[in-house]
Amino acid sequence: MSAKIKLAIFASGTGSNYQAIEQAIRAGKLEAEVGLVVCDQPEAKVIEKARQNNRPVFIFKAVDYQEKAVFEQAIINELEMHAVDWIILAGYMRLVGSTLLKRYQGRMINIHPSLLPAFPGLDAIGQALKAGVKVSGVTIHYIDSGMDTGEIIAQEAVNVKIGMTHEQLQTTIQQIEHDLYPRTIQQLISKGDSF
Ligand code: GAR
Repeated sequence: MSAKIKLAIFASGTGSNYQAIEQAIRAGKLEAEVGLVVCDQPEAKVIEKARQNNRPVFIFKAVDYQEKAVFEQAIINELEMHAVDWIILAGYMRLVGSTLLKRYQGRMINIHPSLLPAFPGLDAIGQALKAGVKVSGVTIHYIDSGMDTGEIIAQEAVNVKIGMTHEQLQTTIQQIEHDLYPRTIQQLISKGDSF
């Protein structure tokens, strides 16, 4: 039996997508293991979730480093120490820089709560509501140097109903994310080799 693909989950907040990935692994729907959780917010809820699952967690504060290249190198050291194959961004609210890209491009994906290229960047859900669109959704894409611009891997649409609040649209979108992300990761890793 070959070794399982190792994922690193990068997150900045609640970690519901992280949790959905752990659940899919436990349910045998995703043949991988979480080798590391990386978090740039020391108070984020995802940290507690990762600890409950006994996962190694690398926590950093960007302000403690001179520049992005320096903390990204520190992240790479951790990723290498834990023999990580794929980087899964799950609510990591930071633009990935050239240091990480050089090492992991093609093995680094993100989930975004809109149908890209519509509404990139912060608060995609608020942007969609403000624009009055009738359809929004979820996009999973490879990371490149832009803000939510990498090649699209999977998308799923959501109807935006009249009068829907931010919270309601977010809940609907996250339900889709929690199913689509583990399924898409499984498809990707079953296609590729590890490093
Ligand atoms: C998710 O909805 C994800 O799509 C979004 O942050 C949320 C994180 O939730 N990501 C972005 O907006 C990235 N631009 P979670 O911490 O509960 O998984």
